[in-house]
Amino acid sequence: MLILGIETSCDETSVAVVKDGKKILSNVVYSSLKEHRPYGGVVPEIASRSHLEIILPCLKAALKKSTHKLEDIDLVAVTQGPGLMGSLLVGIAAAKALALALKKPLVGVDHVLAHIYAGFIDRGAGRTKLPRFPVLGLVVSGGHTLLLKMDSPAKVQILGRTLDDAAGEAFDKVAKILGLGYPGGPEVDRLARGQDPKRFFFSRPFLSKDSLDFSFSGIKTAVYYQAERLKKKPMNLPTKKLICSGFQEAVCEVLTKKSLRAANQFHLKTLVVGGGVSANSRLRQMLAGEAKKEGVKVIFPSMELCQDNAAMIASYGYALYRGGKRDRLDLPGYAQMMGNKKT
Ligand code: KG4
Ligand code: ZN
Repeated sequence: MLILGIETSCDETSVAVVKDGKKILSNVVYSSLKEHRPYGGVVPEIASRSHLEIILPCLKAALKKSTHKLEDIDLVAVTQGPGLMGSLLVGIAAAKALALALKKPLVGVDHVLAHIYAGFIDRGAGRTKLPRFPVLGLVVSGGHTLLLKMDSPAKVQILGRTLDDAAGEAFDKVAKILGLGYPGGPEVDRLARGQDPKRFFFSRPFLSKDSLDFSFSGIKTAVYYQAERLKKKPMNLPTKKLICSGFQEAVCEVLTKKSLRAANQFHLKTLVVGGGVSANSRLRQMLAGEAKKEGVKVIFPSMELCQDNAAMIASYGYALYRGGKRDRLDLPGYAQMMGNKKT
């Protein structure tokens, strides 16, 4: 089965063709990031205009790379939410039009859960087995931090979530405090490499002992006050690197400890990580090392699937379709995003 995936929830326009939910034939990603950089964050209006301009070229490129024609597509999967409303609407409108013209089924997909599905895609060489349910999912992106118990593609229970900033958001804000570029995550990761994380220690908000929720705004504020104290003398690059390392260590430790606590508590032996922050080198190292000690298998997506992309949407859409999900052409992207479950 050939699945066409469409993703337009934030600043990435992506179209993918995925075979049987696992094999990526093409995954074209265009990011309008450079247009947002001067503003230090994603500007919704710029993002939605960019999606409008680029979605058809992305579709053409994805089909060409897959060596298939539009008529070969069997299923259309699209990000339904959460995300920026104007951006989502572009992808949803395109998906509806294609499903209608091709007379093929349409499946709306939750973007956050799809990040976990990036770990269910065949990476070709090196990956022998894909994860099997039940799994523990850890989503760490710019907008979300969630711990999930997934018994099947559609049976998902939220075990923990951030009470304030998402992990990626904290990385971005700390980078801003330190005068680094946007998005901050990759830059903090790069600068922290090889540094001593103990030189600047930031306390770890473990909340209560049993809680699986997260809180990252306190660490970010601690970095802010540390930077303010150091401002008396201009902060040099070596100091920034040490702060990045101390901050990153604190975030990774919280994510690692809570994930393993959840695995233990719910007897889950496979942890699948997804979202932009799953590209973080220290998180990968720490989680892999600690999980091994606990007998938990950790699966990270390949680096190109950590960021927003349509292959994960196609893959998750296919899994949901196999489970019987079908959406009508009045796919309630709008209403679901707004939490109006009546529509
Ligand atoms: O999943 P994603 O591409 O978009 C959302 O759905 O939010 O995640 C973007 C986030 C940004 O906050 C970015 O700073 C962060 O992922 N990120 C990283 C790294 N690469 C991207 N954070 C830490 N380390 C990285 N290497
Ligand atoms: Zn995302």
